Amino acid sequence: MRVGVIGAGYVGLTSAVCLAERGHHTVCVDVDEARVRQLSSGVATIDEPDLPELLERGLRTDTLRFTTSYRALADRDVVFVCVSTPSMPDGSADLRAVDAAVGELATVLRAGAVVAVKSTVPVGTTRRLADRLRPNGIHVVSSPEFLRESHAIGDFRHPDRILIGSDDDTGEGGPADLVASLYPPGRVLKMSPESAELAKYASNAFLAVKISYTNSLAELCARVGADITDVTRCMGADMRIGAHFLQAGPGWGGSCLPKDTAALLHTGREYGVALPEVQSARTTNAAQAVRIADAVGRTIGTPTTEARVAALGLTFKAGTSDVRDSPSLTVCGELIARGAQLTAYDPRLAAIDGEMLRAAAIVGVDDPYLATKGADAIVVLTEWPQFCELDWARIAEQAPGAVVVDTRNLLDAAMLRELGLTYLGNGTGGGF
Ligand code: NAD
Ligand code: UDX
Repeated sequence: MRVGVIGAGYVGLTSAVCLAERGHHTVCVDVDEARVRQLSSGVATIDEPDLPELLERGLRTDTLRFTTSYRALADRDVVFVCVSTPSMPDGSADLRAVDAAVGELATVLRAGAVVAVKSTVPVGTTRRLADRLRPNGIHVVSSPEFLRESHAIGDFRHPDRILIGSDDDTGEGGPADLVASLYPPGRVLKMSPESAELAKYASNAFLAVKISYTNSLAELCARVGADITDVTRCMGADMRIGAHFLQAGPGWGGSCLPKDTAALLHTGREYGVALPEVQSARTTNAAQAVRIADAVGRTIGTPTTEARVAALGLTFKAGTSDVRDSPSLTVCGELIARGAQLTAYDPRLAAIDGEMLRAAAIVGVDDPYLATKGADAIVVLTEWPQFCELDWARIAEQAPGAVVVDTRNLLDAAMLRELGLTYLGNGTGGGF
């Protein structure tokens, strides 16, 4: 099959290398010339396990190529649209990149080709795009993506579900089947474009609700002397609830959950449906930085304005260098706004977007011992397993009596207390 992918970001690049791995001749188009140049020379532009190897193999076997030219898509059977759909100030999804991509496709694709929209787009978008391309004989289906960053290749290879939203055909062998056949074997769910578009937002919003509920429970646990890890261990053992997405933390972030909950609420407002559960999850999430900074403030012996704080972890979760909408940056920002002198360390500091750190006025250092030296408080923000392997005896010597605020409940509380550090877990005994 001759396949095209538009957008070489997390979703597009992952899809392109995996489609090539499956033997499809794949052309990936991006407007970012520098990115296309790097990828064409075999340099992976995002941090994902297995991606460099698949990229190298695709280029070497000529099953994969990158270009800035839409003309290279003229002979494609199926083209996946994977461009960004960021938040507008009112919370709605910015569809300019999707519309620009589809505008270009209208001029190059042949009749009979299928466009599959992988970008997360609000209800009604696929049908609008289908109406636009129908006169050219081009079909449009919705095929939302569910991959997680840091597990992107694995998620593509072993999807929980393959979602195809289309009403162009109800029978076998139509555009929906053609698109489904490109994915690895998996559970294919076919529905209308509207249901598929909404199902994507509904899934991400449900994950956000689950985490916010856990973070609210963690706050209650700390007040009543319960332990959130035990509470969620019990909840997760109930098959109806499920054990995933019940980890307390500094709040949910990343490039999807924040913008997708905002866009879902926007759609709700357009149609007169309030979705208070989603609104409440966002309100709880926005309160986490204040909760964490308050815990630091009331536990260290000095006013926050005179405190030295070390932040461990800047990325929005472990296993990635992505800091887009990272709760770690929000917590750092809150502490800096309260006058703390903050130094941050992240294992992927070298790969992190320096512009985002500068915008948040965060000083990053490439050595955890330098970051924590002389600190009054050490705040663990990302669940990097490397933080457990640090020489905590050395840190305790360099920052005697420091308060460790472990927002991810990652570290060994007993060991740290033995070393003379004050340990505060998130929703655990003696914590915050
Ligand atoms: P990204 O920002 O990493 O990548 C988008 C790419 O599209 C960039 O390389 C950009 O240069 C390119 N682009 C923008 N406009 C273009 C155009 N007109 N023509 C060609 N290329 C263009 O974005 P992403 O994280 O891959 O997300 C893409 C979409 O997939 C979004 O709608 C997002 O919500 C959704 N999604 C993302 C994830 C994730 O984990 N990141 C998971 C599921 C779904
Ligand atoms: C998410 C969805 O999981 C994925 O299906 C969708 O396609 C894209 O958006 P991603 O943004 O990669 O994926 O991150 P995810 O693993 O969902 O984590 C989101 C945020 O929630 C992170 O900040 C993470 O640290 C936080 N989180 C997650 C928790 O705080 N607790 C948990 O139990 C799980």
